[in-house]
Amino acid sequence: MTTFSSRMDKVQSPIIPVVGQLIRENPGTISLGQGIVYYSPPQTAIEGIKQFLTNSDNNQYKSVQGIDPLLTIIKKKVQEENEIQVVPHRSIVVTAGSNMAFMNAILAITKAGDEIILNVPYYFNHEMAITMANCQPILVETDNNYRLSINKIKAAITPKTRAIVTISPNNPTGVVYSESSLREVNKLCQDRGIYHISDEAYEYFTYDEIKHFSPGSIADNDYHTISLYSLSKAYGFASWRIGYMIIPHHLLDAVKKIQDTILICPPVISQYAALGALNRGRSYCQEHIKDINNVREIVLRNIQDLEDICTIIPAQGAFYFFLKVKTNMKDFELVKKLIENYQIAVLPGKTFGMEKGCYLRIAYGALKQETATIGIQRLTKGLKQLINPT
Ligand SMILES: Cc1ncc(COP(=O)(O)O)c(C=O)c1O
Repeated sequence: MTTFSSRMDKVQSPIIPVVGQLIRENPGTISLGQGIVYYSPPQTAIEGIKQFLTNSDNNQYKSVQGIDPLLTIIKKKVQEENEIQVVPHRSIVVTAGSNMAFMNAILAITKAGDEIILNVPYYFNHEMAITMANCQPILVETDNNYRLSINKIKAAITPKTRAIVTISPNNPTGVVYSESSLREVNKLCQDRGIYHISDEAYEYFTYDEIKHFSPGSIADNDYHTISLYSLSKAYGFASWRIGYMIIPHHLLDAVKKIQDTILICPPVISQYAALGALNRGRSYCQEHIKDINNVREIVLRNIQDLEDICTIIPAQGAFYFFLKVKTNMKDFELVKKLIENYQIAVLPGKTFGMEKGCYLRIAYGALKQETATIGIQRLTKGLKQLINPT
């Protein structure tokens, strides 16, 4: 059959399966690649599934927007924790993960050819979603510490701009944006009549007493702020596919059309599990995040050793560090060598839009302390030998 070109030709291929294949070909490799946590959902999520099973009606399609008790508990959570007032101008939509929430947002607010501003390094699925929607990702550099450059963002706005995306705490850098910079972005969006899409998948993952700030809490911004959340990281729910979005009410019809077509409804069994998890609440996540912070300190202590060959920003959020390696070697070549010769996997920076220079993302959320120590020692040894061969 003739093969036709398609909108997908322009979309980058996700790197995780490629690195995954290299890991499988090199047994014993420790992965600092994928952005997942080491822990499983709470017992209350399992109880939620039991509850689901008690009623055969739960096997039918349910509401596009999400089941009522889950919407109710999300409303309470965002009001109490994020200080977002779910006023009549705002709606909550449960999604199959926050990637879906992002895609819903992009499809709902754009037409082909529109522009969306991403800060670089970006989260690759955001860039892919925008390209798939036949829109243009407009890439704006962050500063040397990966903080937002408001003037550069301002300069990138054109009549075609529909939204500015921020991710805080950030994937892939781990940086937590200051409240003032997020307020500036939000105000800019309000002034220019565009949306602020705030991805807060890592809202609970902050360290050193740093506090997460939700732009949706800013007064009078309910017409232009879209806030995205995920249970994947906080509750160890990655495969269960539950996230949610807080949107201006005027987008609800559009988002429902998209969800109805792609999902019909978010998987109801997972929604019952999510209800159980949210009933257990933030304290469950906090217990585990303490362990992740201990791993973070091990990683941070060890990578200081690399200061001669890498620039390291000691980020205070998510579970990532983003290293700039002082080498002419291509990032993927380095990643491949690290896996093949040192059995340690990290992700190349190009995947996150870093075209110039060699960058690596280290993910430490999935590690126990013992594995972290061995893994990071392999990484430092590998980098020292490959970058500075003796
Ligand atoms: C910034 C960011 N947003 C969204 C997601 C995806 O979350 P979910 O599993 O809820 O789709 C990730 C996953 O790594 C992420 O890093």
